[in-house]
Amino acid sequence: MSLNTNSWNRIRYTLYTPIYDLLVGKIFTASRRKSIDMLQIKPGEKVLLVGAGTGLDFDFLPKNAEVYAGDITPAMVSKMQQRAKRLQFNATVEVMDGQNLHFPDNTFDKLILHLIVAVIPDPVKCLQEAERVLKPGGEAVIFDKFRPQNQQLSKFRAFFNKLTSFLFSDITRVIENLLTHTKLKIVKDLPANFNGNFRILKIQKPL
Ligand SMILES: C[S@@+](CC[C@H](N)C(=O)[O-])C[C@H]1O[C@@H](n2cnc3c(N)ncnc32)[C@H](O)[C@@H]1O
Repeated sequence: MSLNTNSWNRIRYTLYTPIYDLLVGKIFTASRRKSIDMLQIKPGEKVLLVGAGTGLDFDFLPKNAEVYAGDITPAMVSKMQQRAKRLQFNATVEVMDGQNLHFPDNTFDKLILHLIVAVIPDPVKCLQEAERVLKPGGEAVIFDKFRPQNQQLSKFRAFFNKLTSFLFSDITRVIENLLTHTKLKIVKDLPANFNGNFRILKIQKPL
């Protein structure tokens, strides 16, 4: 039985909300910027941030795009709304389940999935929803920690994962394997924080 559920995420991220920016605000700044730059968002494009947390990505987004951002945790969403207001950043911010998006098919030009694919209870459903709401030819960036595809799952990692996935994130997921459940294609794959344990991937929905 998995302890990583939407209900548990709401509880743990409600507890983390007051200290979240302090914990992850600085260390991932360069990677956030690099990842969002890779999307080359154009004026007027529709952009969705899934599991957007406190909105730390807002600093790096152009003000002339049509931005939607959601998260399952109401406390994170409130903080994100405050950030948008403070930055005078125009975005539609709401409570949203990344595994069950309420948008029609083919809605968005670009998607941002930062530190969510390794966290969300059902990453395959999340990626399938990303694929569904992206327009054909649309692109998404994923920034997260993944186990290299060619690395066996060690007993130590599997055991340690019970703790990490309960506290903050799964450390066993292989992005290439998850993406086989979609038609999304990796078009760029860059090593990022912690010796490349974190990666930035640009993926595309075929035309
Ligand atoms: C590690 S934080 C990342 C937040 C933000 N993307 C960032 O880069 O700072 C993970 C976020 O995923 C959210 N989350 C977990 N499960 C979710 C789901 N099913 N749908 C949407 N958000 C979810 C949590 O509430 C939390 O805010």
